[in-house]
Parts: sequence; C-alpha cells; structure tokens
Amino acid sequence: MTEHKQTANTQTANTQTNVQALFSPFKIGHLELPNRIVMAPMTRSFSPNGVPGENVAAYYRRRAENGVGLIITEGTLIKHPAASGDPNIPNFHGEEALQGWAEVVKQVHAAGGHIFPQIWHVGMTRQIGDLPNPEALPIGPSGLDLMGNKVTEPMTKEEISQVVAEYGNAAAAAKKLGFDGIELHGAHGYLIDQFLWERTNQRTDEYGGDLLKRAKFAVEVIEACRLAVGPDYPIIIRLSQWKSSDYKAKLANTPEELGQLLALLVEAGVDGFHCSTRRFWEPEFEGSELNFAGWVKKLSGKPVITVGSVGLDTDFMSLFMEGKGAATSNIDGLIDRLEQGEFDLVAVGRALLADPAWAEKVRTGRLDELQPFSPEALRTLS
Ligand SMILES: Cc1cc2nc3c(=O)[nH]c(=O)nc-3n(C[C@H](O)[C@H](O)[C@H](O)COP(=O)(O)O)c2cc1C
Repeated sequence: MTEHKQTANTQTANTQTNVQALFSPFKIGHLELPNRIVMAPMTRSFSPNGVPGENVAAYYRRRAENGVGLIITEGTLIKHPAASGDPNIPNFHGEEALQGWAEVVKQVHAAGGHIFPQIWHVGMTRQIGDLPNPEALPIGPSGLDLMGNKVTEPMTKEEISQVVAEYGNAAAAAKKLGFDGIELHGAHGYLIDQFLWERTNQRTDEYGGDLLKRAKFAVEVIEACRLAVGPDYPIIIRLSQWKSSDYKAKLANTPEELGQLLALLVEAGVDGFHCSTRRFWEPEFEGSELNFAGWVKKLSGKPVITVGSVGLDTDFMSLFMEGKGAATSNIDGLIDRLEQGEFDLVAVGRALLADPAWAEKVRTGRLDELQPFSPEALRTLS
C-alpha cells in the first residue's frame, strides 16, 4: 500500500463523522440550495460551432443526479466577434446555442439540480487570427495583453457600451431559459478583470485610475445584468487576485481596498462572490488565517463560494505538470473552515470533472471509491 493510500484511508474515517456541514442547505437570495457543493466553471470545448449538444446536457445532468447543489457552467460567451479564440467554447447567444442551453437546464432541473451559466468574454487573452472569427481583433481596456504589451487600440466608449449591453442581453437570456441565476466571470485576467487590473487598464478616462475607478466597467456590467433580470434573480461574480499570467498578482493589496471594491459591486447589484484561489487553505492577507473567500465574506457580508484544490493533493498547475493527485487529502481542513463560517459554499473543479459522483460518494463516506483527477479526464466529457 502506498503512503498516499494510507493517508486517504485515515481521512476517510475522520470525514465520515463530519461531512454533514457540506450537506446542509443554503440560500442565495430566494434560491434555496440543498447543500454547499458547487461545480466550479470549467471550459471543456465540447460545443462545436459554439452550440452545446446533448452530450453537454448529459455531462451536467450526471453531476446534478449525483447531488451537486449548484452547477456553474463552463464559461459561455456574450455576443461579440472576439469573445473567445476557440470555436468549441459554447455561445450564450443565437438560437441554436440557446436551444442547446435550454436542454441543459431541462436536464439539470429534471435531476433536481440548480444551474447558473458563467457569462464570459476573454478580452485581450484572445490571439490575433484565432477562430472562430480570425478577422476580429482582441478587445480590452487599453489594448494591452496580460504582460502589458500593446496589441490593439483601447476600447472606445461606444465599444464599452455595446459590450456592457451584451452582458445584459446574456443575463436576460439566462433568466428566460430558466437558469437559476448567473455568474459573471470577473476573474483570472479576462475582460472584466482586465478593467480591474492595473497592468491591463492604463486608461486615463473615467474607466481608469485607482482600483475603484477601474471597477466602473464591472459596475456597469452588473447594473446592466440587474436591470435585465429584476431584483430577485441571483447574480454572483467570480473574482480572483491572481491572473493566468501572474499567480502573485493582486487587485487589492489590503483588506481596506478589497472592502471598497466589494462595496461598489454590491451596490451595483451582486448577491454573492465566487472567490477564486488555487488553494483554499492559503491566507489572503498577513496577520489572519482567513482565505480570500473568508475576507470577502467578512468585508461584504454577502454569501461566498471558496474554491481551489478541494479533493486534490496538488495545486492547479503542478497537477497538470505532474499528472497526479490524491482524491481526498484535504477534506477535513475544508470542513473545519466551513463549520466556522469562513465561507458558505465550496466549489469543486477537477475532482468533480474526474468523478461525476464526487458529491454523493463524499456524502455517503465512500471516499475510497473516488476517481482521482488525471489530465486524461480532460479528453472526454464523461
Ligand atoms: C479544465 C478546466 C477549465 C476551467 N475553465 C474555467 C472557466 O471556464 N471559468 C473559470 O472561471 N474557471 C475555470 N477553471 C478554473 C476552475 O473553475 C477552478 O477554479 C480551478 O480548477 C480550481 O479548482 P479545483 O482545484 O477544484 O480544480 C477551469 C479549470 C479547469 C481544470
């Protein structure tokens, strides 16, 4: 027996006594979730020409059938020619794609699940010449890529207004299709985050300046979505300090700065925050054990989702490099924090990608049956 296996077994015994905290109900606004487990948004690129098919609906349904409380879909694109650089990422506009999403909602609801689409524009991470629209130039606040290099012209105010309106249209479509709420992708260095981040936003007009001024785009996007869906429909936003190009990046250097940013976003109309970190146990600011989600909850008073290496023993990128991961190793620490109220909901990414029955196996104490994540799992939509 390997050392890994022994660790997992010991923790199986521990967790059997206390996983209850993960399986207590929770409310975001009027939406009642049966438990605390959220499927993290994961781009899968299995939607040819931007249209999610029956295989995509079945993929999400399997997670709902197996007890995931809330599914957040892979990033799905607002209407804009440069919204992504991959023709297999699903659109959130156009009759065919929206029909595909309607089937996803139907299947997830039939299995007793709840589902939010993650609304996305990649901004300056798109490369010139990328499909599906090779002629479309990447857009961003200052035309800078994530390294700060100039690639295109800054977005005009007219372009900003059009893109903001498309976020609103996507929110309206989500509500019409029967989704239970929406998540705005405001993390990881994509369009909304490019406005928030100093390196990619060097504007000197009202969309640039200090962090609060750089938040104007996010605020307008949230306001447009709120206007589109009315007061009682859940809107959450995913935020991260880190960027895909820079894990040490920070939007907010102090809790005070973070608190001011969150206050603006709450005022604009968000109901909660999805706080993206690569490892949920890492403290966000010196002098406290609270993680990013813990700080966001404390500062905003709103429901928060934590995420990052739940059910894995290695972090996001080293896992891809090393191609290994134990299925269970940190679940005890997670539950302690949940019980202490540091965060409200727990998103699970790769562990749930590898094992659709992750939530049900954890609930019933069958941790030794969990399928560990390996990069192989990315090849199919199982
Ligand atoms: C294959 C894959 C695709 C991802 N796509 C997205 C995405 O579309 N939107 C997003 O916000 N995060 C995305 N992420 C990040 C995950 O939502 C999650 O934050 C990350 O995997 C850490 O959680 P985990 O350690 O439980 O996997 C992706 C992660 C993976 C592994």
